[in-house]
Amino acid sequence: MKMEKDVTLLAIESSCDETACAVVRNGREILSNVVASQIDVHTLYGGVVPEVASRIHVENISVVISEALKQAGISVSDVDGIAFTQGPGLIGSLHVGVLAAKTLALAYHKPLIPVQHLTGHIYANAFVGELKFPLLALVVSGGHTELVLMKEDYDFNVIGTTNDDAVGEAYDKVGRVLNLPYPGGPKIDKLAKEGKPVYRLPKPKTENELDFSFSGLKSAVMQYINRLERNGEQLNVADMCASFQETALGALWERVELALQRYEVRQLVLAGGVAANSRLREIVVEKMRKHPQVKYIIPPLSCCTDNAAMIGASGYVAYNKGIRAGYDIAADASLEMPGTE
Ligand code: KG4
Ligand code: ZN
Repeated sequence: MKMEKDVTLLAIESSCDETACAVVRNGREILSNVVASQIDVHTLYGGVVPEVASRIHVENISVVISEALKQAGISVSDVDGIAFTQGPGLIGSLHVGVLAAKTLALAYHKPLIPVQHLTGHIYANAFVGELKFPLLALVVSGGHTELVLMKEDYDFNVIGTTNDDAVGEAYDKVGRVLNLPYPGGPKIDKLAKEGKPVYRLPKPKTENELDFSFSGLKSAVMQYINRLERNGEQLNVADMCASFQETALGALWERVELALQRYEVRQLVLAGGVAANSRLREIVVEKMRKHPQVKYIIPPLSCCTDNAAMIGASGYVAYNKGIRAGYDIAADASLEMPGTE
C-alpha cells in the first residue's frame, strides 16, 4: 500500500472581524482552530469598523498564532507550509494576516499558499465528508452570495451572484432596522422561531434567474415597519424576523433548485456564515429529499463563520496543486475565486 506523506499546514485568516489561526493535517484533520472574535467591539458601533478591525487584528495575531501552535503541540518548523487568506475582504484586515504569513514563511523557509476566502468556506465541507464533483456550492456570507459550480477539484465557476447586497448583509441590515444588536443574522434566526411569517414581503426578482438580490427586500421591511407605525399598529418583531427569513431563504432555495435542474451535480454543499442559519439547514434537509441522487453536506457550525481551519482545508488542495505565492504577494480586497473568468 502506498503511504502518502502527511501535509500539515498552518493557516491564517483575518479578512473581516475574526483573527484566526489553525493547524490542519491533510486538509481534513483539525489539530487546532483558534478564533479571536471582535464582535463585542463592533457591536458597540452597530457594524464592523474597518480601521478598528485592523488595529485589533494587529493586537491579536501573534497571540492567536502562538495559541494555535500550542494547542496543536507543534512549532512552525514542523509545518509543511503557511496558508493564508489573500482576499477578498477588508484590505487593512487582510494586510495583517498576509504580513504574518509572509514573516513566518520567510523566517522558517516555508512555502506560502495563497487562499481565496470563499474557497475556504466551500472546503470547510471537507471536514464532514469527501467532496464529489461536479459539485454545487451555495456560498452565503456577510459579503457574498454565490452559486458556484465546481466541475472538478479547485475549479470554481460562479453561475449566480448577488446584484446588490449579500444575504448576510441583508440579515444584518434588517437586524439594525429591528434594533437588534450586530450581527443581526444569528438574532433573526433565533427570534424567527418564536414568530410566524405573517407579513407579506415581495419576492426578490433578478434578470438572470440564478442571480440574487436582497436590497429590495431590506427596503420592503423598512417600508412595512413605517406603514405599521403610520397606522398606529404594533410591530411584532418575531413575526417580522420570520417573514424576512422565509422570503430571503425562499429566494435562495429557488435558485438552488433551478441550478440543480440545469446542471447535473453529484453533491450540494452549503458554505459561509449564513450556512449556520438553523432554518436554512432545515430547508436543505427537507428539500433534498426530492433529489436523492444528489448527496449534500452541511458544514459543522464551528466551520460556517470565519475561521482558519477552512483556509487550511482549501490550502491543502492548493498545496497539492502546486499553488504557491512569492514573498512579494499582497492582499487583494476583491480577489476572485481561481478559475473565475
Ligand atoms: O462568513 P462570515 O463569518 O463572514 C463573511 O465572510 O462575511 O459570515 C458572517 C455573516 C453575517 O452577516 C452574519 O449575520 C451571518 O453570517 N450569520 C447568520 C447566522 N450566523 C451568522 N445569518 C443568519 N443566521 C445565522 N444563524
Ligand atoms: Zn467568510
